[in-house]
Amino acid sequence: MKTRITEIFGIQYPIVQGGLAYLAYAELASAVSNAGGLGQITAATLGTPEKLREEIRRVRAMTDKPFGVNFAIARHDGKYKDLLEVAIEEKVPAISITGGNPQPVFERIKGENI
Ligand SMILES: Cc1cc2nc3c(=O)[nH]c(=O)nc-3n(C[C@H](O)[C@H](O)[C@H](O)COP(=O)(O)O)c2cc1C
Repeated sequence: MKTRITEIFGIQYPIVQGGLAYLAYAELASAVSNAGGLGQITAATLGTPEKLREEIRRVRAMTDKPFGVNFAIARHDGKYKDLLEVAIEEKVPAISITGGNPQPVFERIKGENI
């Protein structure tokens, strides 16, 4: 199947798993990506930059397919910037944003090939 979504994300089916606080860990994200969709982990409930880095690496150990990291901005109480830096350092394929103004995130990731 080919759509703009499959082409932009390099996935097989135009199905994106939502960010799911308390649920979207490496197991779910890698299962969705392995099945041809875009799986995601949720930074909000990982809490610290160290835990997010570890979870991104766990996804990569379970799939070689594209995946995303979700930022639910309001949940982070304004403290998502260190988490965002980790996602950039780890060169995650995609980032999704909800629950807040995405503009500062877009500004920061410009040119990062995310
Ligand atoms: C328990 C739960 C936690 C959620 N946490 C997030 C989240 O952290 N970030 C996010 O973008 N959306 C979150 N959502 C919203 C979902 O990603 C999704 O947009 C919503 O469930 C609607 O999708 P659907 O129409 O496919 O059911 C959450 C939804 C549920 C049910």
